[in-house]
Amino acid sequence: SDAITVGQLAQLLHKNSSEIIKFLFMMGNMSTINTVLSDEDIELICMNFNVEVHKEVVVDEDDIEEQLQNVEEDESKLVSRPPVVTIMGHVDHGKTTLLDTIRKANVTEGEFGGITQHIGAYQVSLKGRKVTFLDTPGHEAFTAMRARGAEVTDIVIIVVAADDGVMPQTKEAVDHAKAAGVPIVVAVNKIDKPGANPDRIMSEMSELGIMPEEWGGDTIFTQVSAKKGTGVPELLETMLLVADMQELKANPDTNASGTVIEAKLDKGRGPVATLLVQRGTLQTGDSVVVGTSYGRVRKMTNDRGMEIKHAEPSCPVEIIGLNEVPRAGDVFMSYDSYKKAAEIAGHRLDKQIEKERNSSSAMSLEDLAKKI
Ligand code: GTP
Ligand code: MG
Repeated sequence: SDAITVGQLAQLLHKNSSEIIKFLFMMGNMSTINTVLSDEDIELICMNFNVEVHKEVVVDEDDIEEQLQNVEEDESKLVSRPPVVTIMGHVDHGKTTLLDTIRKANVTEGEFGGITQHIGAYQVSLKGRKVTFLDTPGHEAFTAMRARGAEVTDIVIIVVAADDGVMPQTKEAVDHAKAAGVPIVVAVNKIDKPGANPDRIMSEMSELGIMPEEWGGDTIFTQVSAKKGTGVPELLETMLLVADMQELKANPDTNASGTVIEAKLDKGRGPVATLLVQRGTLQTGDSVVVGTSYGRVRKMTNDRGMEIKHAEPSCPVEIIGLNEVPRAGDVFMSYDSYKKAAEIAGHRLDKQIEKERNSSSAMSLEDLAKKI
């Protein structure tokens, strides 16, 4: 058969099979050296190991519809929207601590109950302006989003622990930001620690092409202690300045669309998805389609666990009401009619089934080798 196995792909990429098996495991798939890979898996693996696959563009009527909706934008309806800031960096360098500190300082007492709740997406008010933050605990979801072409972030804050230095996931974060073409702000963290050496971080980041302003480059480095809060106001100030230069806008006055940040199956509530609204306004009762899943938004909750009735551009919300769990990075669209939503989802499901039926002959090893 033409199907590509883990072992064959490993050879092609000059990797050890165990690295691919480990990656698939982290993505939630058990595999062996003989497991046949789907095209999507191949894409994700190549993305993960920074190998580009040049794939033909598949024309799909739904996608065309989505794209049309995206370009036919009435300029006069565009209004400012909050920036979406993704916090990235190596394990344990302090991403979540930084976000907690930002939230504690900028969420008012009464609203503070939801802090332990983890949805990975938060909105805070800074100087009367809203800012949306995305935490990236693991990089798998982010890698998956990139593989599906989901662009959600306007700015990346890369956290680097000053007592540890630039590590593999720091480098990955730089690659992600560069690939997305978004500005980077570097937060040199843990400066309260005895072994902290911010100069070393600046020179190691420069080696990756991220040169500090004070050395003649164009990236702002701020020194912070996420734990103590030192330097955090300056970091946020910088981040707002970078956001201002982008003049971020969206049309809130149309059907909502955006991206799934994360999703899971909840025993009591069924499929639960955290969505980032990027365009339009999502309202309770709206009919939405996400990949092959669809449903009516039964309930929307914000990052503080409070029920809300509508969500404007850049707002992260948790929704229930979908018929199945969507994937992180999937695009969602809302439609005026439930019937239409069900039809589109059904149509996609049919096509997916058909594709899976033909998938063993979809891409040969030679084809793939040519494309890499
Ligand atoms: P992952 O989500 O696992 O990738 O880690 P993370 O980047 O979110 O790191 P996290 O915020 O969980 O912090 C890891 C450890 O570093 C925790 O024990 C924090 O208390 C500690 N830490 C974070 N920031 C600072 C800091 O500024 N100073 C000191 N001394 N410790 C810090
Ligand atoms: Mg974390």
